Amino acid sequence: MLPNNKPWIWFEELSKTYDAPLITIWIGRNPTVWINDAWAASELFEKRAGIYSSRPRMLVFAELGAGQDNLVNMYTTRPEERDRWRVHRKLMHQGVGIQSVRRYRQFQNNESRVVAYDLLKAPDDYVKHFERYATSVVSIIAFGRRVENWNDPIITEVIAVMHLAADLNVPGKTFPMLMETFPFLAKFPNEIAPWKYGLGKRRGAHFFHALADEAVKKEGHEDSFVHHLFSEGPKYSLREAEISSLTGNLFGAGSDTSSSTLITFILACCAFPETLGPAWEELDRVVGPHRSPTWEDEEKLPYIKAFVKEVFRWRSVAIIGGQPHAPTQDDYYKGWLIPKGTWIQGNVWAIHHNEREFPDPDRFNPNRFLPGHPDSRPFPGERGYMTFGWGRRVCSGQALAEQGTWITVARILWGFNIQKKKRPDGTTVDVDIFNYTNGLNMRPQPFECSIVPRSEEIRQTIEREGKQALEELEQYRGETKYRMSTFYARNDVAMKLYGSDEKETP
Ligand code: HEM
Repeated sequence: MLPNNKPWIWFEELSKTYDAPLITIWIGRNPTVWINDAWAASELFEKRAGIYSSRPRMLVFAELGAGQDNLVNMYTTRPEERDRWRVHRKLMHQGVGIQSVRRYRQFQNNESRVVAYDLLKAPDDYVKHFERYATSVVSIIAFGRRVENWNDPIITEVIAVMHLAADLNVPGKTFPMLMETFPFLAKFPNEIAPWKYGLGKRRGAHFFHALADEAVKKEGHEDSFVHHLFSEGPKYSLREAEISSLTGNLFGAGSDTSSSTLITFILACCAFPETLGPAWEELDRVVGPHRSPTWEDEEKLPYIKAFVKEVFRWRSVAIIGGQPHAPTQDDYYKGWLIPKGTWIQGNVWAIHHNEREFPDPDRFNPNRFLPGHPDSRPFPGERGYMTFGWGRRVCSGQALAEQGTWITVARILWGFNIQKKKRPDGTTVDVDIFNYTNGLNMRPQPFECSIVPRSEEIRQTIEREGKQALEELEQYRGETKYRMSTFYARNDVAMKLYGSDEKETP
């Protein structure tokens, strides 16, 4: 029986015990392969991307959850599936691809300045500031509307749904994942099937379409992602559910992941204070106290670049590489048969934890990413980490997430001393670098810390830039009348727009 808690650690141990990069576990009659080694992952998912870019059948996450027609779940086995997946990838690329995200730098920078300003005012609420920031950035991209407040339901409700989804979808968990082995269990109506956890209602599906529809009907911000989707819609015969999932993915895939990464960054600073000195030395030399870092400084800040890479490596949020891949035909790896359609999962925990590539892997050590440094080791690919997945299925939002994490980490390092919390009696509140949640997107369990500006000059700069950022962001102020929690209530506007669609998927 698979462990219910953090199975990625169990697979890492098995892989070491048997000295095998791939471990196969049979769940019922279905083989599930876990790749525990960077070179094997690169060989299969990247070099053989032509074969390994589909998804397996995922009853819980896809069919009962986000939908089979959602980009993250789409098959690429048959030509018509591949064509549709390409359309979705293309649209996402136009929205958040490497070229597009440069256009978002100004408001992303401003939202990150607001984070620094918020940290001045309420440092203990750092988790909320990060969630607001990450959600606001994708909301401006999607709808041209920012999220001003951390208790806006678009944050609280969407992040809660994502935590539930991430929590329920850990392979090996007895329920609801037992349905993957015994699909007939999914056929019972929810009322008499507690193991379904209410799955199958496709709740997000129309909600995001309604938000999109509302946003395109408003004046201004005609360059938003939903305007683009609506104008391209007829060309690709996009259905409402597709517009909804493409928009919803910005939130579902982009807000919890980005904010969890920043929480990990704070934990690393508390646990490894020796890494802060070199960061401050570099930032003080290149940037100084009278302005905060900008992207133009990036090349002059090699240690900060390495620091951000180490944040992505040390405790990668998508700890089992997001969704599994599946080969579109039978394939062999070192003599082992991997049958068509096999559930094949990249174990990012094991990959980023391998002593061969990352000696003393639990130590947060940016030096690993400084070119030519004795602590750096060969790793497949130029980035040096596999946090965003692989090959043709690599994260669509990678450029946005990397760009945003860099500016926010650089700014917070420049502005603040981040330390373990001191109690009034002078003792220190310890932090636990292993105390993470158990979902397939993981984040540190809540911990206390101290975040204080490094000097009075810096404090003034943060305040000045924060106020200026809020003025510049004023153009994105706006409200929505929709709430996910009430959207499907009887007589709600959704009922009129879409009819009663509380039907469970068969
Ligand atoms: C730190 C932040 C993020 C991390 C660590 C992350 C990680 C991942 C991973 C591991 C995958 C699966 C890749 C694979 O199957 O090989 C993925 C897929 C995806 N991500 Fe992200 N992601 C992040 C942020 C974002 C953002 C900001 C967006 C959108 C704005 C986004 C949109 C997507 C989409 C649409 C997919 C599915 C791609 C497909 O199946 O073809 N992600 N992400």
